[in-house]
Amino acid sequence: MNHINLQKKISQLKKKRDAVILAHYYQESEIQDVADFLGDSLALAEAAQKSEASVVLFAGVHFMAETAKILNPTQTVVIPSLEAGCSLADSCPADKFKEFVDQHPDHTVISYINCTAEVKALSDIICTSSNAEKIIRSVPESKPILFAPDYNLGRYLMKKTGRDMLLWKGTCIVHVTFSLKEIQQLKLKHPGAQIIAHPECEESVLVVADFIGSTTALIRYATESASKEFIVVTEPGVLHQMQKLVPHKIYIPAPNNSGCACNLCPHMKQNTLEKVYLALENLQPEIDLEPDLIERARRPLVRMLEIYSK
Ligand code: 13P
Ligand code: SF4
Repeated sequence: MNHINLQKKISQLKKKRDAVILAHYYQESEIQDVADFLGDSLALAEAAQKSEASVVLFAGVHFMAETAKILNPTQTVVIPSLEAGCSLADSCPADKFKEFVDQHPDHTVISYINCTAEVKALSDIICTSSNAEKIIRSVPESKPILFAPDYNLGRYLMKKTGRDMLLWKGTCIVHVTFSLKEIQQLKLKHPGAQIIAHPECEESVLVVADFIGSTTALIRYATESASKEFIVVTEPGVLHQMQKLVPHKIYIPAPNNSGCACNLCPHMKQNTLEKVYLALENLQPEIDLEPDLIERARRPLVRMLEIYSK
């Protein structure tokens, strides 16, 4: 079946199942085009919490679909592929993380949303790339902070807030492949271009960026700022919305250091339009979590949403 036919079938199935499709910007363009709602991790979590549909088809990675289930447990949450994981979540196994947390009982534990439900349950507050600064500033200066799992984001936030934090050493396999040398070479070819980057990138890349932000913030900046040309240092899935919103600007995806396609997130790309269709048809694979885990993981997520909305 070609993708136009699949998109039509998906629209029909959505009605039949009383389903909504929530999708992240790193999804294939044809998946983004069938979504009812697109967003960064924070916006997607809020949309999942507010959803009144019977079924949420979460076109993103596993931790995002888990978050949707935790925030709205009575909904059926399905994901196109259970293989859609995340290297950051994998870099922080709950048993090792518990040992680390137990060694620092006086610390407030802030975990980036890119982690498993078990790790969320061991945390005091969750944050995303769009609200992390505000969440950190909400913790009294007298309280030491333990931040996990993204080391690069943690170090960037330490610089931004002036707050010393104990960091877990996880990384995103996609964002650490971006090479400063190649970005500088691109900049030589496009001297008028602004460099915009996701905070999961390494410090050497972030110091040359004109703007740093979540996927939503990067799309907004590229489409709303006066500049016409951008070197985009994150997963190139974000270019689809930039091109749709403001087609006449120039968006250049940043290369990585090995010339491979490793700037594509292999986890996000596990989802295909066909798998979206099959997941809606079969209501499988479904996200299933123990009620007790939902309860424990929900507390730090709700705390994040409360602080963020203040
Ligand atoms: P955002 O919350 O900025 O969309 O980031 C999600 C992500 O996985 C980045 O790699
Ligand atoms: Fe995880 Fe990195 Fe993929 Fe984002 S881009 S989902 S952090 S592996």
